[in-house]
Amino acid sequence: METKLLSANGRDLKTAAEIITGGGTVIFPTETVYGLGADALNPEAVRKIFKAKGRPGDNPLIVHVHDIKQVDTVAEEVPEKAKMLMEHFWPGPLTVILKRRDSVPDEVTAGLKTVGVRMPSDRTALEFLKLTGRPVAAPSANLSGKPSPTSFKHCVEDMSGRVDAIIDGGDCAVGVESTVIDMTASPVIYRPGDITAGMIEDVLKEKVTLHDSVADGETPKSPGLKYKHYSPAAEVVILKGSVDEVIDCVNRQSVSCGIIVFDQMLETVKNGLSRGRVIKTLGDRKSPRDAEANLFRVLRDMDEMGVRVIFAPEIPDNDKWAAVRNRLYRAAGNRVASASEFEFKSAHEKPKRFLFVCTGNTCRSPMAEGLFNEICRRRGIAAASASAGLSVAPGSVLSENSLSAMKRENIDISGHVPTALSLDMLKEFDVVLTMSSSHKQMLKMILSGNSELSEKVFTLGEYSGLGIEISDPYGGDISVYESCLKEIKKCVAAIADKLSYDKV
Ligand code: TXA
Ligand code: MG
Repeated sequence: METKLLSANGRDLKTAAEIITGGGTVIFPTETVYGLGADALNPEAVRKIFKAKGRPGDNPLIVHVHDIKQVDTVAEEVPEKAKMLMEHFWPGPLTVILKRRDSVPDEVTAGLKTVGVRMPSDRTALEFLKLTGRPVAAPSANLSGKPSPTSFKHCVEDMSGRVDAIIDGGDCAVGVESTVIDMTASPVIYRPGDITAGMIEDVLKEKVTLHDSVADGETPKSPGLKYKHYSPAAEVVILKGSVDEVIDCVNRQSVSCGIIVFDQMLETVKNGLSRGRVIKTLGDRKSPRDAEANLFRVLRDMDEMGVRVIFAPEIPDNDKWAAVRNRLYRAAGNRVASASEFEFKSAHEKPKRFLFVCTGNTCRSPMAEGLFNEICRRRGIAAASASAGLSVAPGSVLSENSLSAMKRENIDISGHVPTALSLDMLKEFDVVLTMSSSHKQMLKMILSGNSELSEKVFTLGEYSGLGIEISDPYGGDISVYESCLKEIKKCVAAIADKLSYDKV
């Protein structure tokens, strides 16, 4: 498909609006990030957005309007408090989630009963939206998973040949996506942005909850929460430590690296870095607004320079910095390391050694170990596992029912001796998989001062992508053990699939 590159003048905006009314796709600037728009009431046009971005179909889109009255075309009702927010913050970087009208296609809301609506403040955006005369559905205009585009150049790089037109509106003033707030019940922020919880509380005179991550086993209220976001091709690591430790750390690594700093550290770090290291600043350390405006561009610039790992500074855990912290820590997959110790090892390399953990190491984790090793052996996967318990009674033995259930799978685990989990074991294994979330919580608590070990811990359900909990069969009859084994098998097989993916 040929992509028209348009300017922000009146004639070009009219062309862009005609593309929308004709069922096409247009990338347009907003004050936050560029959006990839289509007519929100035309399902076929909306499907083109998902195709262009490679976006999962279960992640809903934000509908953009050019005045408050237009909200009624997509929302069933607008609660008084939602109206207060719109009147106060619109046009501006705030998305309000409301009950949707039935006429809004499922493609826009991903089948949810709600719809997110926003009126951007960017002049070009408003003029373009007005000319279309329609509500325009638009996600950020990046390829799915990449950092959102904050300049015309980013959009051209990601989307040339994938959309009908791109409007050049210069650089985005805010630079991170809008704050997303659910106003269908008590206010909840799903995504922090330039408009902070504090600013919203001042208007509503009411406490606002921030809910921008998903707990284990929870179904996310905002589907976007479950996806990895904002990731550059390089791996991002947040470094803790003094300026000297950070400089040493960057110089010590044998892979190409870049470092993100604030202006206040720029000169010192520049002077201390070895040649070939890339350095970029987020701006003034005291200004979250600077960091918002620069973050996505800096991540993209680092990729362009081909670095393998990007080191980034810690970001304060408070309301004003919530938007920057949320984006940067998600780009890092929450990988925080101590500068004095860190040695780069790619998180993308496939793990080889797995440790299964339950309470007593007499039923669940030995069954997981036996199954995993057998599946790997049968399928020629170069991985192995062991198991251990968080609280192993002295002299305890493998449960008879586990032994029998495994026998029916033709796997003999009679040689297993229950083993207590130790620090050495945690160091030795690449991934530690617990049977339930309570095991994981306990382990994370024990390891709270050691991010490198703590990062290896997941629940079996979580790591396999199946999201299930493996409950304790202790005290049950053989059928309880067999169904427990069945659940474990599903998870372990899914992990083996991932490990053997390259070979298929
Ligand atoms: O600043 C912005 O909001 C930009 C510009 C283009 O307006 N748009 C944007 O859209 O960031 P997108 O699709 O990249 O992110 C929308 C987020 C997603 O995380 C999605 O899950 C959430 O908003 N969302 C949209 N509708 C929702 C709904 N009805 N309920 C819960 N979450 C919703
Ligand atoms: Mg996005």
